[in-house]
Amino acid sequence: MKITVIGSGYVGLVSGACLAEVGNDVLCLDVDANKIRILNEGGIPIYEPGLEAMVKRNKEAGRLRFTTHIPDAVAHGDIQFIAVGTPPDEDGSADLQYVLAAARNIGEHMTGYKVVVDKSTVPVGTADKVRTAIGEALTARNATINFSVVSNPEFLKEGAAIDDFMKPDRIVVGVSDDQAADMMRQLYAPFQRNHERLIVMDVRSAELTKYAANAMLATRISFMNELANLAEKLGADIELVRQGIGSDPRIGYHFLYPGCGYGGSCFPKDVQALVRTAHAAGQDLKVLQAVEDANEVQKHVLAQKIIKHFGEDLSGKKIALWGLAFKPNTDDMREAPSRVLIEELFKCGATVRAYDPVAIHETQRIYGDEPRLEYAQNPMDTLEGADMLAIVTEWKEFRAPDFAAIKAKLKTPVIFDGRNLYDPTHVRAAGLSYFTIGRH
Ligand code: NAI
Repeated sequence: MKITVIGSGYVGLVSGACLAEVGNDVLCLDVDANKIRILNEGGIPIYEPGLEAMVKRNKEAGRLRFTTHIPDAVAHGDIQFIAVGTPPDEDGSADLQYVLAAARNIGEHMTGYKVVVDKSTVPVGTADKVRTAIGEALTARNATINFSVVSNPEFLKEGAAIDDFMKPDRIVVGVSDDQAADMMRQLYAPFQRNHERLIVMDVRSAELTKYAANAMLATRISFMNELANLAEKLGADIELVRQGIGSDPRIGYHFLYPGCGYGGSCFPKDVQALVRTAHAAGQDLKVLQAVEDANEVQKHVLAQKIIKHFGEDLSGKKIALWGLAFKPNTDDMREAPSRVLIEELFKCGATVRAYDPVAIHETQRIYGDEPRLEYAQNPMDTLEGADMLAIVTEWKEFRAPDFAAIKAKLKTPVIFDGRNLYDPTHVRAAGLSYFTIGRH
């Protein structure tokens, strides 16, 4: 099939590459000329395991191309995916300006029937707005062309995006007509494995499904974070509690890990957007508002532990920081808890020496020439001249360090672990003080 993907970021690029991988003819569009230049020159603008090789393979096979030229992109695909960003606007609602700009572009240039697919995470009712935007653009050029608008939210996880797209748990498709439903079935046929993964529903339900999924996951995290904080006060160990409740199949083990707050490009903004959508519809989502409030508190927990231990004046202190990305296997720094920690430490007069396997470049882009932030080549190198160690991202390479070497290097032998990576007994046996989220 001929497919256009509008927006070549984390979702658009992965979707485009995976759709090409199964034999489709894919053209990816982006307004960011630099991104398209990098892709056309054989590079890749983001870090995502396996993506570079997949893009290369499909480019060489002639099935995957990149452009900034809107008319070509609209002309190409019978299916037009909209995979642009939907960042929060000032009040936390999803900002639809990029989605609607993409819709207008389609309306301005289409010459035949198109299935327009909202892949971006968009509030309930957006498909209607997309339909209106395309309709208005067609009217402005006196054109009458049939089109369908479909909601097909994306559930991929950064860091495992290719596997998630190629082997999905489910593919949610919201449609309002049979022609579009048939095309979506055909499009996703190669991704069905031993049983049907496609869940076809009405458009509004599909739009809400995406928010419901992220809201549920964020709820589990905030719930566990609050319980971890309580466990600390009560002298219980949240890790044992986690095992104790996760073994109940009604609860399950997934997403029960307490930490220093959720971040990333999805949970914070999607939780906020759903709260705003509900409020506008006349219903306050009290549970979800609490989820967000608890997360705001949690992002400061690590800094507070450091301040409690060392006092509010951290001037002259250097903190070694392991991990910058909001989670492992990505370079995404959007809403990363590391940023909250770094900024709190700066406020207290400290400097930071940080290491992350892939997100240093992105951090440099955000913080520029910030003199209080220096970068190390590897985890042990962060400890040079450092007073203490803080951990915010659970990269695999942090999981089995040499604690004796850490103790020897730090001025004060103390670790503040925002991801509960180690057995406390083991760390303390090496002579280090160890602060966790909810363990003793
Ligand atoms: P991103 O910021 O990485 O990529 C968006 C791209 O769209 C950018 O490259 C931007 O230049 C481009 N763009 C903006 N306006 C455009 C236009 N009019 N025409 C062409 N290109 C345009 O964003 P990301 O992370 O890929 O997210 C996209 C959507 O997918 C968001 O709604 C997000 O909530 C959703 N999503 C993201 C997931 C993730 O893990 N990043 C997972 C599931 C959904």
